Amino acid sequence: MDEIYTIGRELDLMAEQERTLATPRLPANLMLRWMFLTFDIVYGRARSLPKVLVLEILARYPYWAWEDGGYRLLSKLHSRTRPASLDRIKVALRHVRMGREAQDNEQWHMLLWADICRQKGIRLSWFRHFWMPRVMTFIYYCLTRLMYRFRPVSSFAMNAAFESHAEHEYMQFAWEHTEFDDEPVHSIWFDRYPRQKSLGDLIRRVALDERDHMNRSLEEISRLGGGPWRENDEIPWT
Ligand SMILES: [Fe+2]
Ligand SMILES: [Fe+2]
Repeated sequence: MDEIYTIGRELDLMAEQERTLATPRLPANLMLRWMFLTFDIVYGRARSLPKVLVLEILARYPYWAWEDGGYRLLSKLHSRTRPASLDRIKVALRHVRMGREAQDNEQWHMLLWADICRQKGIRLSWFRHFWMPRVMTFIYYCLTRLMYRFRPVSSFAMNAAFESHAEHEYMQFAWEHTEFDDEPVHSIWFDRYPRQKSLGDLIRRVALDERDHMNRSLEEISRLGGGPWRENDEIPWT
């Protein structure tokens, strides 16, 4: 199962780009279609660094919702007199961990794009980069949190589709801008995120993180569908 994950592996990023572009995107639900349409209207159809910066601001919210939902479930399970179900505790702990890990990864993406926009002197606008992210993140968070509360599988499915979109957008962005392959990239955040030799490779590396996020969500859907916990699963809190 682990070979589907790309994190920490040395891969041919160009070959991975082709692989993504040859694979269809996961179908998006109505909420995501509305979000992607809003993106194209507000930030333009062309892929750009300011546009992916906002995508990354949004990307953290489902993970935050799962982390919050997992903690609330733990509190609920322990705020009663009868013993808490170990299966449910393990599921909650797993969702807290998934949420935290991916949230941190998305955070580095966001910080990297913000730093690179700053280096390039790209001006961010008040409406598109202050108000719009606030409105969209509020809606996205509330919806994911509700889905997680009432039908967790739907929230993992929505996130998988969001991540599939992000992976394809990044690979398409790199494919459209071959000049990025000759552009060295520097960032103060390369002490926390794997340094890449060009902007093109950095975009591809981020795309692979999105693929991993998608696969984690898909894996969780099958885990939840197959019962709350399987004996041989990895211990979630280590
Ligand atoms: Fe991301
Ligand atoms: Fe992601």
